[in-house]
Amino acid sequence: MVVGVIALAMKGGGESGGSSAVADPVIPAVSEADIIAAAAQLGPRDQELVDIGETGVSIIRAGGARKYVALTFDDGPGPDTPAVLAELKRLNVPATFFVVGHAVAENPGALRQVVADGHEIGVHTWTHPDLTALPGRAQRSEIENTAGEILAASGVASRLFRAPYGAVDPDVLKRAEDAKLLSVLWNVDTMDWTRPSAGQIVETVLSNAVPGSIILMHDGGGDRTATVQALPRIVTGLRARGYEFATVGDLVISDPPGSDDMSSKSRSTQK
Ligand code: NI
Repeated sequence: MVVGVIALAMKGGGESGGSSAVADPVIPAVSEADIIAAAAQLGPRDQELVDIGETGVSIIRAGGARKYVALTFDDGPGPDTPAVLAELKRLNVPATFFVVGHAVAENPGALRQVVADGHEIGVHTWTHPDLTALPGRAQRSEIENTAGEILAASGVASRLFRAPYGAVDPDVLKRAEDAKLLSVLWNVDTMDWTRPSAGQIVETVLSNAVPGSIILMHDGGGDRTATVQALPRIVTGLRARGYEFATVGDLVISDPPGSDDMSSKSRSTQK
């Protein structure tokens, strides 16, 4: 911030002096305050998501008025993230990645690739704890440090949050709301972290997807070979049934959830 103030002062001085000389460009370092200020600025799309988040609920699916679903990938970036990205690119499918802050810090380039490929980013905490077991200050730092790391690494001010294990309570939802994040759960769980076969993952998705579904998968947290192998058949199978794909944000904005599509309950058995 200090550097920015100096740059402004130099520019103002030059103009008031009537000089036509151009001052040397001063590139201010991105400070934490700058990051917070940038994250606080909401565009219209952001505002729609934040408005839903301010109702103190988690989204489990969109409204169901359109035959769209959202594929979501948690716990990355990890070693299998490039393979997931390659399949999504080949299949021309947008997705949403709920990333872990420490993994982003270790591999910011992977996050930038996710963003460059056109996918949406959500906050999945820094260390993947059960937030409901933590005091408020720790909940806040888990969420806000991750949002700051995403912004610093990729320039994206995320508006989506997914609690590890789907474990939410009113305090956790309030922390998300304070960070201007919409809590997103799911209504189709591939259980891919339990290491089913690719065929089982495909079958779970195709037999449970409905219009507006938010589908939970993982690109990090372990070997995701089966998830990668399942993706072509998931996409082909859903398209054969008339479905198209959207990011969670686009899905929710284009097809707003009703009260049946939200949950304030805690889920604790999921990865
Ligand atoms: Ni997770």
